[in-house]
Amino acid sequence: KCMTKTAKQLLDWYDRNRRDLPWRAAHGESADPYHVWLSEIMLQQTTVATVKGYFEKFLTRWPSVDALAAAPQEDVLQEWAGLGYYARARNLHKCAQVVVEVHQGSFPQTEEGLKALPGIGDYTGAAIAAIAFGEPAAVVDGNVERVVSRLFRVTDALPGAKKVIKAHTAEITPTKRPGDFAQAMMDLGSGVCTPKTPKCLLCPIRGACAAHEAGDMERFPVKAPK
Ligand code: ADE
Repeated sequence: KCMTKTAKQLLDWYDRNRRDLPWRAAHGESADPYHVWLSEIMLQQTTVATVKGYFEKFLTRWPSVDALAAAPQEDVLQEWAGLGYYARARNLHKCAQVVVEVHQGSFPQTEEGLKALPGIGDYTGAAIAAIAFGEPAAVVDGNVERVVSRLFRVTDALPGAKKVIKAHTAEITPTKRPGDFAQAMMDLGSGVCTPKTPKCLLCPIRGACAAHEAGDMERFPVKAPK
């Protein structure tokens, strides 16, 4: 199977409803790995609304990974000011230098290769592999975790459930357009499959959703008692 019915329905919805964000390529075009990497690092602990402005300013000042690698670290930290978590900025700069010095200025194209770089973990490695390189990687952020835990009614408690959720995400991730699929899941989680009172009537994949069927969407994701 290269595409489940669920993946098809979600991608059709994405084509009609996707958010126009500065790091997303135009429909049918491939995304620039430098743009995808920069945005995904910024989005790790910061909202989409805040990241937009910083992303544009960074790209204006450093239009390529080579330019960023050549910048003094203090300039990068200064441009980062306000985003917080300065270790992210130091890793960002270090990562740019490794890409230039070790990889001749091109990002590795696999999840494993990407995860070997400074500041790139499971989520970011999968996101860049899928969005920039079309790898069918399972991309799970907090929003996707909620969507998938509802779709499959994952009753294990987080954090142990993460592996189960990752495996279910892999099952439904298509080999065609995996990056659009990942971003569609993120958009669905942030706008439709929300923590409280999810808008199931607007959901393109409610027919496949076990929690919708059972009527207990708000129970998911199950969190371990504190
Ligand atoms: N959050 C993290 N990465 C994102 C992306 N590519 N699109 C929308 N929200 C995101």
